[in-house]
Amino acid sequence: MASTSTVSITPFQEPSAGSVSDQYVDRMKAVQAFNARLVFMTFDESSYDEIVQGVRRVIGCDSCALFLYDKSHRTLVLKSAAGYEGLQAPLSIPVDSVESLHAQAFREEYLVHMNDLTTTRMLTLSSELGSNLVLPVISDKGPFGVLDVGSLTPSYFGDVEVGMCSMLVDQMAYSLENMRLVRELSDSRDAVIRGMALLSEIRDSHIGGHLNRICAMSEYLARRLHEIGGYPEVDRHFIQTLSRSAALHDVGKVGIPDSILQKPDKLTPAEYEIMKSHAMIGGNLLNGLIDEFGEFDMIAMGAEVAICHHEWWDGSGYPKGLKGREIPLSARILALCDVYDALASLRVYKEAWDHRRILETIRGLSGTQFDPDLVEIFLQNPPELERIRARYPG
Ligand code: C2E
Ligand code: SIN
Ligand code: SIN
Ligand code: FE
Repeated sequence: MASTSTVSITPFQEPSAGSVSDQYVDRMKAVQAFNARLVFMTFDESSYDEIVQGVRRVIGCDSCALFLYDKSHRTLVLKSAAGYEGLQAPLSIPVDSVESLHAQAFREEYLVHMNDLTTTRMLTLSSELGSNLVLPVISDKGPFGVLDVGSLTPSYFGDVEVGMCSMLVDQMAYSLENMRLVRELSDSRDAVIRGMALLSEIRDSHIGGHLNRICAMSEYLARRLHEIGGYPEVDRHFIQTLSRSAALHDVGKVGIPDSILQKPDKLTPAEYEIMKSHAMIGGNLLNGLIDEFGEFDMIAMGAEVAICHHEWWDGSGYPKGLKGREIPLSARILALCDVYDALASLRVYKEAWDHRRILETIRGLSGTQFDPDLVEIFLQNPPELERIRARYPG
């Protein structure tokens, strides 16, 4: 627990004066607007700052802090504070603490209201507090945090303030629980995509490292395009989607017999024709999922890169012979990363090449196999490519 003597409080300044009833109406409007904001909030680390500042503003209290429960350490962890000078994360309170108001409110799932702190032994966040509300944030899965609302003034929190705070905390619980569900869904979707990609590699000699490198390199190249500009479709969502769906580019290799896939020698033309079908096998598999379950960005981009990652910029690639910008950007990025990594790696049919030779080969294929603009950006920082490779060995 923080030494409460070092935490001072910045008094809240009412933005507008006016009659008491005007102030009351303004406050109700502000609470209502903030409540609506909470409904639509998608939580990340910066949301916690928005919450504590919002509560302080709409309740008009001097200080506010939000703690969330860390199950593995059995502590309440400070996420954000407003108006408490010197109170900063990381700060955690053991939930078993008997002196802590916060631990008590959490354990007993009960709102703790200290109306006059001039006469109590309970630990508060600042010794300057005159009154203090600590509200548990409870979803239908149980409590998962506490909201601390403080005032320099004793007896500051009347029934109206307590009611408003309770309402805000209920909405927070609802929104945080929704957010947890969304996260769980997106994690399980990532896990399924990863599993599908790993399965496709299991009979190929290069498991794991190759997929991680391709994903990391595609993400790196997309990020560079975003920084450089001129690629309107490359936003954060594109980068994130590509960094995951890149792993799906070779799922179609599940349909290629071992005698071809694992041949320790050069393929015959007939074998190579069969090998080439991996692009459409993968694309059809993923498009089939879209037909059955509806379009998800990650699967849709997965289908795109699966089908088009062996297309060549000059139109001489497969399976469709698309040319130039007819080839989706995702697949043009992936094609480059795929070949870079294939050349740098040992395959059943080839040795690993040294870096110089790889870079020269890729430069030589600029404008024939690869999008020349992408090659230029890709080759701007070779040490970064080596760093990505080194991060995912194997
Ligand atoms: P992969 O091994 O992951 O290679 C991906 C791509 O990297 C290849 O696509 C090709 O564009 C590039 N690449 C790989 N090795 C070389 C090389 O020595 N020189 C150049 N310039 N580029 C290279 P591609 O050709 O469409 O092949 C697709 C997949 O077919 C390969 O994936 C691999 O699984 C298989 N494959 C291709 N050639 C052979 C082969 O001679 N023997 C065997 N066993 N498999 C092969
Ligand atoms: C990025 O993560 O670099 C993208 C940020 C953005 O799209 O604003
Ligand atoms: C092959 O060996 O047939 C394909 C690899 C390459 O593009 O050189
Ligand atoms: Fe491929």
